[in-house]
Amino acid sequence: MACYFPCLGSGRKSKKKLPMEKPQIPPASGDKANLGSSSTLMKQDSLEVKREAANKDIVLSNGSDNRRIAARTFTFRELAAATRNFRTDCLLGEGGFGRVYKGYLESVNQVVAIKQLDRNGLQGNREFLVEVLMLSLLHHPNLVNLIGYCADGDQRLLVYEYMPLGSLEDHLHDPSPGKARLDWNTRMKIAAGAAKGLEYLHDKANPPVIYRDLKCSNILLGEGYQPKLSDFGLAKLGPIGDKTHVSTRVMGTYGYCAPEYAMTGQLTLKSDIYSFGVVLLEIITGRRAIDNTRAAGEQNLVAWARPLFKDRRKFPQMADPALHGQYPSRGLYQALAVAAMCVQEQPTMRPLIGDVVTALTYLASQTYDPEARGSHQAPCLMSPGTPARTRRDAERKPHYAEQRESG
Ligand SMILES: Nc1ncnc2c1ncn2[C@@H]1O[C@H](COP(=O)(O)OP(=O)(O)O)[C@@H](O)[C@H]1O
Ligand SMILES: [Mg+2]
Repeated sequence: MACYFPCLGSGRKSKKKLPMEKPQIPPASGDKANLGSSSTLMKQDSLEVKREAANKDIVLSNGSDNRRIAARTFTFRELAAATRNFRTDCLLGEGGFGRVYKGYLESVNQVVAIKQLDRNGLQGNREFLVEVLMLSLLHHPNLVNLIGYCADGDQRLLVYEYMPLGSLEDHLHDPSPGKARLDWNTRMKIAAGAAKGLEYLHDKANPPVIYRDLKCSNILLGEGYQPKLSDFGLAKLGPIGDKTHVSTRVMGTYGYCAPEYAMTGQLTLKSDIYSFGVVLLEIITGRRAIDNTRAAGEQNLVAWARPLFKDRRKFPQMADPALHGQYPSRGLYQALAVAAMCVQEQPTMRPLIGDVVTALTYLASQTYDPEARGSHQAPCLMSPGTPARTRRDAERKPHYAEQRESG
């Protein structure tokens, strides 16, 4: 088994939290990561979003199909009414950039989630702009839908579709008492759906989008546990032309951050693949990416998992105890193999998201029936020893044929 994971070195030491520096927005021109078709918003960024702009819909031209997309605007008064003046009992949660409330918007006759960004000047404003830009341009069943926004005065609020089942983090790490834990089939469905959302960002968006903040709390769950990626405020447009990476300040969450990105600030699509691998490991093991309540050596999930990856007999030890042994042995092996490849130290050895989607879609399609244990035999989808294909190999987008991933 050990030979299947030649590139797995010793894990990084666990760290607490990265300093949340200001997100970087590519300037309107001359930047490695510029999105030519989005100049409207880029200009708004440099003008710091004038109040008048908030009263008009932002209309963007989507680079691939020239679709005109409008993001709806709401007044602060409307959003205050929708949340009964941001009452505490409407609070859904709180993150690094502000609070999220549940509300009902009469004008659109819809239950929504409203995120009120902290009014901490430029940082929140940039996050707000990137989020509106990204979610106005990008549409996929596995990305959360932005209904609109409010930029009245110094208020910055984002209005999303309400995701009734909360976040993956809630289900894995903070389950409501007495509520059933996620079963194996649901976990694979969530993993496959989240991978599809990331595939859209990496392979369908043009230029590609590096998500940069993939973690369980940003995977929201809709009816039937349909997962949707949320929080695009840190997203970056990927390298274009012959560039191999985007250089940027290190942002994100410790435990999810690829080691080469944390150390050099060089961001590639493979940084997201690492974060995806961490999320997949959390889905399989039920452990947090960083858990300071655990024994030394078990606090960093990847560092804990690496030695175990080398011995297939140890795989059952890695399954979430909350599954009570109800998982397919072969499916567990395959899912762990995918996770192991994603979290490899060497970014070039990590798979492309398209290959991850293929593997996880297959795993999700193999419905596990606890009554018929070990009844199916999954073919070997991806061998951890196989060098990862590059985007060039895949030849999915001839436009980026010269692009190479590098750490
Ligand atoms: N669209 C939404 N629908 C339902 N709940 C949401 C939505 N967006 C966010 N939440 C909840 O609010 C919490 C805080 O979200 P957020 O501010 O993005 O911070 P973080 O991602 O760090 O948890 C989430 O963990 C989630 O439980
Ligand atoms: Mg979030």
